[in-house]
Amino acid sequence: MIREFKTPVSGNTVKIGSDAGYDQIILATESSCDETAAAVVLNGRQVLSNVVASQIETHKKYGGVVPEVAAREHLESINLVIEEAVEKSGIKIDEITAFAGTVGPGLVGALLVGLNASKTLSLVYDKPFLGVNHLNAHVCANYLSCENNNPNNWGPPFICLLISGGHTQIIRVKDYCNQEIIGETLDDAIGEAYDKVARLLKLPYPGGPLLDKMAQTGNKDRFKFTEAKVGEYDFSFSGLKTAVLRLVQSFDVQELPKEDIAASFQESVSTILLKKTLKAAKDSKINQIAIAGGVAANSEIRKKFFALQDRGFKVNAPEFKYCTDNAAMVASSAYFLSNVIEKLDVEVFSRVK
Ligand code: KG4
Ligand code: ZN
Repeated sequence: MIREFKTPVSGNTVKIGSDAGYDQIILATESSCDETAAAVVLNGRQVLSNVVASQIETHKKYGGVVPEVAAREHLESINLVIEEAVEKSGIKIDEITAFAGTVGPGLVGALLVGLNASKTLSLVYDKPFLGVNHLNAHVCANYLSCENNNPNNWGPPFICLLISGGHTQIIRVKDYCNQEIIGETLDDAIGEAYDKVARLLKLPYPGGPLLDKMAQTGNKDRFKFTEAKVGEYDFSFSGLKTAVLRLVQSFDVQELPKEDIAASFQESVSTILLKKTLKAAKDSKINQIAIAGGVAANSEIRKKFFALQDRGFKVNAPEFKYCTDNAAMVASSAYFLSNVIEKLDVEVFSRVK
């Protein structure tokens, strides 16, 4: 598909998309939460550079992301991160076709930093500005080139399970331009549940990856958690979180079987995620399944999903660095999606609209 955008100063038309008939280079920024990122991507797939400055060390001492602190850190890092992305890409900034940035959902003060940087670059270099939805971008991480720039031919139709710190959704991707949300969490996001359970097990923020590690040595069958009764493609994790809290409270601190709780929790959530995604794929008669978002880095979830290959499904997951927040996925989304916003006065937004 081709979409036409205008350059902001001279008003020239620029064609973007796989059928536009020429190579397109998009520089994107991403600053929706606690990562300041910039990337340069060729034709929606080939990552020429991908720079991420993480704020985890800063937020660790507060046990979670502090929005005001995040915004200030983004301000300090954004120019350096963009400069590094341009330098590493090996291209000159005036060779860039368009500038993209994340519009939302995310932390408003944080989003404003990356988005304003992209808008400014668009005005200064007179190239189109492309505003992107963060969740669409996570799904597009599946299109990015792999290690050593090996080409990646993954494409629609597929069902994507998007699991991140802020979101849990099942998305039907029938073609490159549209993504349809068919199920989502009614309360906590899966990453949030991971981080909260990790805190109960006294692990530092962000606990998800540490809980994943701890679960490797635990007995996954020791504790059973009941699954919430919600819509067939929807999720609810608040009951599960409370069940873990009660379980933790039933032990003396010194005798807390942390590894077994971690393993049983992980087994429970990964089973639910797999079951619902599989149902959505079967109902939609689609035999390709992808995962995306920070929690898609989880070892057990990856194991369970890739095991579907033995049952006739094609399965894809982005490389770890493209699972967590990054700007390469934003550039890819700007190249492919039809809901890209080119208005320079677009406002950031905090929640899914
Ligand atoms: O996608 P992401 O970087 O940020 C959002 O857009 O929310 O996701 C961050 C989330 C955090 O909750 C983190 O604990 C979780 O991803 N996470 C994991 C793993 N790696 C990151 N959760 C479970 N297992 C992991 N290996
Ligand atoms: Zn994210």
